[in-house]
Amino acid sequence: MFGRIDHVGVAVADLDEALDLYATAYGMVAAHRETVAQQGVEAVLLDVGENHVELLRPLSEETPVGKFMARRGPGLHHVAYQVDDIDAALRRLQDQGLRLIDATPRTGIRNSRVAFLHPTASGGVLTEIVEPASESEMHAA
Ligand code: CO
Repeated sequence: MFGRIDHVGVAVADLDEALDLYATAYGMVAAHRETVAQQGVEAVLLDVGENHVELLRPLSEETPVGKFMARRGPGLHHVAYQVDDIDAALRRLQDQGLRLIDATPRTGIRNSRVAFLHPTASGGVLTEIVEPASESEMHAA
């Protein structure tokens, strides 16, 4: 069902400070920066081969990532798997009785369609599935 890991999400307090590590020290290319209001974050995608690291700065303490950081501090936040058809993937997961945070997809970074599984459904790992936008849709935002 999952094509590959699309990205790992990392919660950070300061994006520019984090970019010093990921872009400057690690030499990753910051491919995209966007405020995703629906998820309450400002995010940066960095390329690592075909995959990405997604740095997430919460827009406020009341957002999901803000609450996560208040509880656990900055660090690894979620793993995202890529799917071709997110509607079909969600149906399959639901048919298996897995608890979902999002029963229907919402808009993620770069016009992707995303949905989160509940961490209790996935062994404590917050898990996201992503159907990327087509090349033309990616730049339509
Ligand atoms: Co993500």
